[in-house]
Amino acid sequence: MDLRKCLITGGCGFVGSSLALHLRQNLSGLRIIALDNFYRRGARLNIPRLQAAGIEIREGDVRDERIWQDLPPCDLVIDAAAEPSVMAGSTGSGVEYVVGTNLVGTLNLLEWCRIRGGRLIFLSSSRVYPVGALRAIPLRETADRLELDSTRPFSGVSEYGIGRGFPMEGARTLYGATKYASEVMVGEYAEQFGLDAVIDRCSVLAGPWQMGRTDQGIVALWAARHVFQRPLSYLGYGGRQVRDILHIQDFADLILRQARHPISLTGHLYLIGGGRDRAIGLRELTRLCAQDSGNAVPISEDPVVRPGDAPWIVLDSRATEEAFGWHPRYSVADTVRDTVRWIASNRSLLAEVLDHEVKEASK
Ligand SMILES: NC(=O)c1ccc[n+]([C@@H]2O[C@H](COP(=O)([O-])OP(=O)(O)OC[C@H]3O[C@@H](n4cnc5c(N)ncnc54)[C@H](O)[C@@H]3O)[C@@H](O)[C@H]2O)c1
Repeated sequence: MDLRKCLITGGCGFVGSSLALHLRQNLSGLRIIALDNFYRRGARLNIPRLQAAGIEIREGDVRDERIWQDLPPCDLVIDAAAEPSVMAGSTGSGVEYVVGTNLVGTLNLLEWCRIRGGRLIFLSSSRVYPVGALRAIPLRETADRLELDSTRPFSGVSEYGIGRGFPMEGARTLYGATKYASEVMVGEYAEQFGLDAVIDRCSVLAGPWQMGRTDQGIVALWAARHVFQRPLSYLGYGGRQVRDILHIQDFADLILRQARHPISLTGHLYLIGGGRDRAIGLRELTRLCAQDSGNAVPISEDPVVRPGDAPWIVLDSRATEEAFGWHPRYSVADTVRDTVRWIASNRSLLAEVLDHEVKEASK
């Protein structure tokens, strides 16, 4: 594929900025526009490094229909603008924002792609799975984490993780619902209008430049609390909840392969995650953060399971690996080490963002 122009919405966020820089390094001559409204605290910290790499920054909101007219047609479009918190809108406030950005913003982008063309890479999330179904996965408890109970089979779940055939009925948080509705619409645009689009349903992505907060970006949050020596709390599952974690560089490598893919991606859905080899319990994450930062922090326990909490999410990405000849290279220990090092070596720059919630709470 001949790639000349690329638009990344949410291009100053964690994933968007990392993808922009990776594409910049690997596709010479590609003009990259990063569109962002700087809703995410810390997104502006990405401006200097993006500009230094020759990436154009446009301040704009994906909900605003007017911004689309000023953008040039692009060969590659990556939808990375979002309110990515599973808690978003859960108290009633912020519903309009999460639906407006994650669903209406994506619909605006789809219309723009339909008219202007270009390959669309839509970033979705494992949180499209209904919370009730996630909580029904049979698990057994070990000292450190929850493990699959293989004696009790569950539809769509294997020793490799969640795959095709997982139940899709039930509520899934506003974040998950907006992502799922967008997935459906991306598939529809591919079918009805021949849009060259791919849906990447991802589990936890992590690494440097993630502006972790209590409701999103668990690895960066955990790493920051260790570096800044602030207390933490295990919520709901006693620190035994499990997630598979993919290093942002591994993800960027996959996106590069998808961008270069010679034939249309025609609305295909891919599951993307660290898989069972990169699945980790929160207690294990604590150990890695303590080891890498040299600090142990007090951790309390709150047994209350909040709406949207899920004990175990691991995605089976074997089909994606096969389709793109891709395999993650970074271990979870690498991801945690890179994140802790990034925070520790940029302490003063990052304190305003990564230590912000703690400072606010103590006021
Ligand atoms: N980080 C993860 O673990 C993860 C996992 C699965 C899926 N995803 C998906 O990847 C995408 C990027 O997530 P992220 O982790 O980089 O989040 P992020 O918050 O770091 O980045 C999102 C960016 O979008 C911008 N944005 C928000 N509302 C906007 C609007 N209305 N108009 C324009 N820009 C807006 C924010 O300012 C931010 O820079 C999201 O779609 C998310 O659902 C992320």
